[in-house]
Amino acid sequence: QEGPHSSSVATRPSPSVTTPVPADHDDHSYSNLSEIRVRHADLDWEVLFDRRILRGSAILTLVRPPGGRATHLVLDTRDLDVEKVESSRDTATWVPAVFSVGTADKILGSPLSITLPEDATRVRIFYATRPQASGLQWLDPPQTAGKKQPFLFTQSEAIHARSWIPLQDSPQVRITYRARVRTPKNLMAVMSANNDPKAARDGDYEFEMPQPIPSYLIALAVGDLSFAPISPRAGVWAEPPVVGKAAREFADLESMIRAAEELFGPYRWDRYDVLVLPPSFPFGGMENPRLTFATPTVLAGDKSLVALVAHELAHSWAGNLVTNATWRDFWLNEGFTVYIERRIVERVFGRRRAEMEAVLGLQDLEKEIAALPDKDEALHIDLRGRDPDDGFTDVPYEKGALFLRHLEQTFGRETFDRFLRGYFDHFAFQSITTEDFLRYLHANLLDANRELAARVPVEEWVEKPGIPVSAPRPSSEAFARVEAEASRWLGGKVPASSLPASGWSTQEWLHFLRALPASLPREKMAELDFTFHLTDSGNSEITNQWLLMAIANGYEPAYPRLEQFLVSMGRRKFLKSLYEELVKTPEGKTRALAIYRKARPTYHPIAVATVDKIVGWQG
Ligand code: BES
Ligand code: ZN
Repeated sequence: QEGPHSSSVATRPSPSVTTPVPADHDDHSYSNLSEIRVRHADLDWEVLFDRRILRGSAILTLVRPPGGRATHLVLDTRDLDVEKVESSRDTATWVPAVFSVGTADKILGSPLSITLPEDATRVRIFYATRPQASGLQWLDPPQTAGKKQPFLFTQSEAIHARSWIPLQDSPQVRITYRARVRTPKNLMAVMSANNDPKAARDGDYEFEMPQPIPSYLIALAVGDLSFAPISPRAGVWAEPPVVGKAAREFADLESMIRAAEELFGPYRWDRYDVLVLPPSFPFGGMENPRLTFATPTVLAGDKSLVALVAHELAHSWAGNLVTNATWRDFWLNEGFTVYIERRIVERVFGRRRAEMEAVLGLQDLEKEIAALPDKDEALHIDLRGRDPDDGFTDVPYEKGALFLRHLEQTFGRETFDRFLRGYFDHFAFQSITTEDFLRYLHANLLDANRELAARVPVEEWVEKPGIPVSAPRPSSEAFARVEAEASRWLGGKVPASSLPASGWSTQEWLHFLRALPASLPREKMAELDFTFHLTDSGNSEITNQWLLMAIANGYEPAYPRLEQFLVSMGRRKFLKSLYEELVKTPEGKTRALAIYRKARPTYHPIAVATVDKIVGWQG
């Protein structure tokens, strides 16, 4: 069978990703990292909802390498209004510092160059953000669940922290931080730090993150938030109308944390809470330390989509503890995380469910690889001159996870688990490159057993396009049964009403829908819809899959739901797939533009950037 999985990589040109990246270098930061580094930030903001700006100051604590005398500090910024910069050697006296903001690059923003005395240990920047800051979304009350209060949230990964904090915005710089945030009195602020559920709601909040983290994990949300505990160290934050449902959906949080701890060592971040955001949150989840941010579209009502929380929790080891040093090493964050996510799902929800998710993941990967250029199919991707968001494909996620699964299956679970646990301990609180990982892999796994090592084409996995032929093939018996049912129904042997679908999980439903041919006769679409009410499904993943089919088959009864889905949530994964499907025909493109015209003002800047490209938005 011919497909990306079996395609020969030898005949393809290999991508030009072999040039070594010097240490202390990051293509996506202007910082002079080898001369001077930030190691702590003291942040102070006022949240001005009426003007959509965050105004305040950032005091950065600086360290130079031994003997270093740097008098020049370059920070990353994007769309910041810098008012004044000062430096200090003792934090008691502050002197004005000369600074300049360079011209804006579309991807990187503007360097902020500051001249300092060679013994200055602090720099203080007074600044304000702009309403269009790419890392902030300001919501009017109608865009929230409660409809009465405004809402603000940040999204810093990959390089959006610079749009709300002037800093060295590179994942190889780890900092601790403290923050003071002033908000309107009735609102609550939470951060990727120590959140106190019992803090008085007086509009004045203080935070501390004592563990060094990369800038992309700095996060803030402000809104009408309440808290519900799940266990002594875990709970959920959400708007009052959502918090109960969220607490029920995530009732297994503590079991998931324990499962991860049993596998990979203690959870090192103190509390683990999940913040459920308003529906415009552009991602499924974001692993902000101590406080995962999550889309409300995960709340299916039956816990069927909680692998997403297992994923963000897994980042507490892969990503937050051991971090990609540059965005070309992104697979070290996401591939390891997907692998761990499935191990958590297996322990808490069973092997059957974990395998189904692995199969769905492989399907996503194969579909993605069929569409991607070769150079974007390597785990170790070249992102020079590109937006790191371009690297956000299923390759780092699913190909990365499959590579680890290949190692696991080759060396055995016990050996591989010991290896992984050692890896997290060895590199804890460090940012590492793909080369660092490969050196560690050789020294601690491959070199000890050359015979087994020979079965895993490591260099092919990491540097080459496609999926190695020797890759594992996750499979699910439950899915095989679903496929058989799908063909019986397609072949007209049974009506939809006799499908054993009442016992199907969300994953089986997704597989069933994906197993159907791209083009389905209208009666078949209508029969499914009549029997299973797919157009009215409250499960966002099933809705997304069904609407893709509705678009492809011109199934009009689902169009109102399509429009409603697209205007009511802003999760980029769903927007991307649905708008992409729509623009495939001229008629669909017209509809896409009509819907987008209404929805665009409610989408997050990151989602807007993606959809603008898909629909060719010109305003
Ligand atoms: N860290 C990512 C989200 C991210 C990556 C944001 C790169 C910006 C740039 C997060 O952990 C993630 O992978 N989220 C997924 C969900 C997951 C279940 C695969 C998402 O949002 O789709
Ligand atoms: Zn992730």
